[in-house]
Amino acid sequence: QKQITAATLLRAKQHNEKTVWLTAYDAVSAQIAETAGCDVLLVGDSLGMVCLGYDSTIPVTLDQMIHHTAAVVRGRSHAWVVCDLPFGTYQQSKEQAFASSVRVLQETGCDAVKIEGGEHMAETIRFLSDRGIAVVAHIGLTPQSVKKFGSYGKRGKSEGERLQLLKDAESVCNAGAVSLVLENIPTDLAGEITGTLPVPTVGIGAGSDCNAQVLVWNDLLGISASNPPFAPAYANLRQIMSDAVSRWADDVKSGRFPE
Ligand code: KIV
Ligand code: NA
Repeated sequence: QKQITAATLLRAKQHNEKTVWLTAYDAVSAQIAETAGCDVLLVGDSLGMVCLGYDSTIPVTLDQMIHHTAAVVRGRSHAWVVCDLPFGTYQQSKEQAFASSVRVLQETGCDAVKIEGGEHMAETIRFLSDRGIAVVAHIGLTPQSVKKFGSYGKRGKSEGERLQLLKDAESVCNAGAVSLVLENIPTDLAGEITGTLPVPTVGIGAGSDCNAQVLVWNDLLGISASNPPFAPAYANLRQIMSDAVSRWADDVKSGRFPE
């Protein structure tokens, strides 16, 4: 199958075709997701919460992102692989963002970096884009700012927030972002952004009008202890895994295993 690129995603938007994104954190999940029809594998800094046991994405380091992204790249054959730049590795300056992106791209072989932030990150996105880096922007609920907002609640509910998000979307698009993640914002706002701007949008908790949808691997498969309301589990792997381990543990204790 042909390698997916930023241009593939733009063409899909222009032809009104949906694309499918899913997070991945290792080679096995990358292989499964891609074979099952995902176009984009996002190595999200949700890694910190779903794999590493942290209670937010704040503690995740660039080294950890690189370690997992390299594994995802080894597991993929044609999917587009995006790596989240974690908290503190791009906000200080556009030069810091460039240095972090170069490490990610050179040490993992992935295709793009994602950064959280709208209007205030536009100058950084322009700087990276002008230097040949594919940047995905992420606005709306931006989990790296959870300490400032105090919750993971919906964004863009007030008129003021709505206008700011429209501005954010426009400025990251003008700055050269190749795609835009919209997290936990009202459906009609996500629809307006998707309909007005040329950049492909990727929704999570943002309704069905986005050009793509993304979910967290552990949520989709029912591995997480609990899911956000906008992320339905399509399987109950937590139960299946638990049952298998528990049957085996019983067999070990009773002497039925190995036999
Ligand atoms: O870290 C992550 O998994 C993400 C997606 C949920 C968009 O940023
Ligand atoms: Na993220």
